[in-house]
Amino acid sequence: MKPRLGFFDSGVGGFTVLRRILQRHGEVSCLYLADSARAPYGNRCESEIRFIAEEVVNWLQQQEISILVMACNTTNSLAFDLVKKVSEVPVLGLIEAAVEMVTQPRVGVLATPATAASGSYRREIKAVYPEAIVLEQACPDFVPLIESGKFRSDELRLAAIDYLQPLLEAGVDEIVLGCTHYPLVEPLLRTLLPNDMRMIDPAVGLARQLDEFLGSPQNLCQDKVLIGDTRFCVTSRSVAFAPMAKHWLGHNPQVEVVSLRTSTCLS
Ligand code: DGL
Repeated sequence: MKPRLGFFDSGVGGFTVLRRILQRHGEVSCLYLADSARAPYGNRCESEIRFIAEEVVNWLQQQEISILVMACNTTNSLAFDLVKKVSEVPVLGLIEAAVEMVTQPRVGVLATPATAASGSYRREIKAVYPEAIVLEQACPDFVPLIESGKFRSDELRLAAIDYLQPLLEAGVDEIVLGCTHYPLVEPLLRTLLPNDMRMIDPAVGLARQLDEFLGSPQNLCQDKVLIGDTRFCVTSRSVAFAPMAKHWLGHNPQVEVVSLRTSTCLS
């Protein structure tokens, strides 16, 4: 049977993971769920995030997926154990993938408030590199601005300057994009960072981990993104979804609005 990947995120962030996977593996059958009714996840508390993660996974499992891709760092940080427990299919996460990509002793991590507060990146990086210095920076305004389509706004630029300053002052050598929305603003971040600063996109490592299930790619397509049989679902209409799919995946999706049973309780 052909593998079918189930993705979830609070919104358009998971597109950056989907894109990396399609670039590495070519056409793959996918289901993409954006839980837009409850975005941003990263400003919620741990119990809400765990509740949401379990509900989303239960829904995805009813859609006949064969591999689950947690395309959201916030749920990776706060509910990875729970998702692994309830999922009947293999689960791929971003934090382990990111740790494998770290090469320098002073690491900055840009993340949602919930991810940063959880200390998950610091813990996982230090478990492998005990000497590493890891600075986690919360970026509360990024996801709301991205989801509302304010890509070129001064607000976004000023927020980015603010979030990068402590990392630059601490002299970090590389920066992990610890939220899947952040590669969408990588060009902006690039203009604010020294030329030699490496940015780590954990999705690159995650796409590599998929080799175990999809096989090693013979001809890496790199820049080409081939959308195969992919179903795009949202839990509420979102202004950013279709334009970002077009821009990031080169695809005009047909978008289905779905209900995940108890989703209205927390919105
Ligand atoms: N893109 C997700 C992440 O990687 C969720 C961001 C949010 O909804 O706050 O954390």
